[in-house]
Amino acid sequence: MAGCWTFGYYWAIASLVVAASSVSAQPKRAFFVFGDSLVDNGNNNFLATTARADAPPYGIDYPTRRATGRFSNGLSIPDLISEQLGLEPTLPYLNPELTGKKLLVGANFASAGIGILNDTGFQFLHIIHIYKQLKLFGHYQQRLAAHIGAEGARRLVNQALVLITLGGNDFVNNYYLVPYSARSRQFSLPDYVRYLVSEYRKILRRVYDMGGRRVIVTGTGPMGCVPAELGMRSRNGECDEELQRAASMFNPQLGTMISGLNQEVGADVFVAANAYQMHMDFITNPQAYGFVTSKVACCGQGPYNGIGLCTPLSNLCPNRDLYAFWDPFHPSEKASRIIVQQILQGSTQYMHPMNLTTIMALDSMT
Ligand SMILES: *[C@@H]1O[C@H](CO)[C@@H](O)[C@H](O)[C@H]1NC(C)=O
Ligand SMILES: *[C@@H]1O[C@H](CO)[C@@H](O)[C@H](O)[C@H]1NC(C)=O
Repeated sequence: MAGCWTFGYYWAIASLVVAASSVSAQPKRAFFVFGDSLVDNGNNNFLATTARADAPPYGIDYPTRRATGRFSNGLSIPDLISEQLGLEPTLPYLNPELTGKKLLVGANFASAGIGILNDTGFQFLHIIHIYKQLKLFGHYQQRLAAHIGAEGARRLVNQALVLITLGGNDFVNNYYLVPYSARSRQFSLPDYVRYLVSEYRKILRRVYDMGGRRVIVTGTGPMGCVPAELGMRSRNGECDEELQRAASMFNPQLGTMISGLNQEVGADVFVAANAYQMHMDFITNPQAYGFVTSKVACCGQGPYNGIGLCTPLSNLCPNRDLYAFWDPFHPSEKASRIIVQQILQGSTQYMHPMNLTTIMALDSMT
């Protein structure tokens, strides 16, 4: 008995030592985030815009219990990815605390309200459109190079993980924002989708040209099923068909474009994360994931708590973990955890050509 225990004990110590040395031998990788409100960690707090999440009850379940600018009751998708990789959460690029050694952790450039197109989100006034996010990434690289040298900066960016989340706002806050919107008069839906995908391709190519070599790309979720759309358009809780049609056209074409881009650069740089399917799993069967509903937002008002914004005066559910949607558009922390679990371990149906666990394993061997 004792011998057995001793053997187990030494074995545990030995594996701890091995684990510890492999951690210290391997510098932690940096993490860069681009995109919209699904991944904004607080940049918009520093801007004159109406797209913000800096008042309660946002952040009610965040470690500090404060609203931080994340569109969540607690942690966001990028926070949860950082957590899984054993990294500190990345700071918003506009946060003045992002200096010195903090630069090595990476940065979050995302800004709520933006889209693939420059005109998406114009109604939110001053937000950081995607080309501006990339320009700031350039400034970041110069600051990093001043700190650790040009070669070190280039290596850090090449070895980093990148997440980019775009597309939803190009539909809900542009094409479908109002009836007869400028874009819907200019393009049929199939032509608009093709245009968006070709513009997204240019953005991804730019990320590559700026040094990104492991880039997780998400398309849109099931836009027709979010409480905001149910509140505005749904009689019996059925998802809006037109927005679902848009998502079901956009996401497969995004996947094809990403495969083409990987062929062009000759490596599996870009990974398509199927946000649509990840959300649909708990939308079609919320109980299986521990939710009481996927139709009603935790925070909001009107039908499905889907009308207007989540504010201090809104209805608020007592237990956020029981709701798939925190506010009319954004998943709860609990739902974001389910999504991040698929990013880490999902099959090729969710993560194509490979999941984040595989990426980490491959990169630790080089
Ligand atoms: C959007 O703006 C950037 C520069 O700000 C420009 O390079 C790009 O071509 C614009 N995109 C379109 C589709 O006009
Ligand atoms: C995803 O990750 C798991 C490990 O968690 C692995 O077993 C599985 O094969 C991976 N799937 C793909 C398609 O890479």
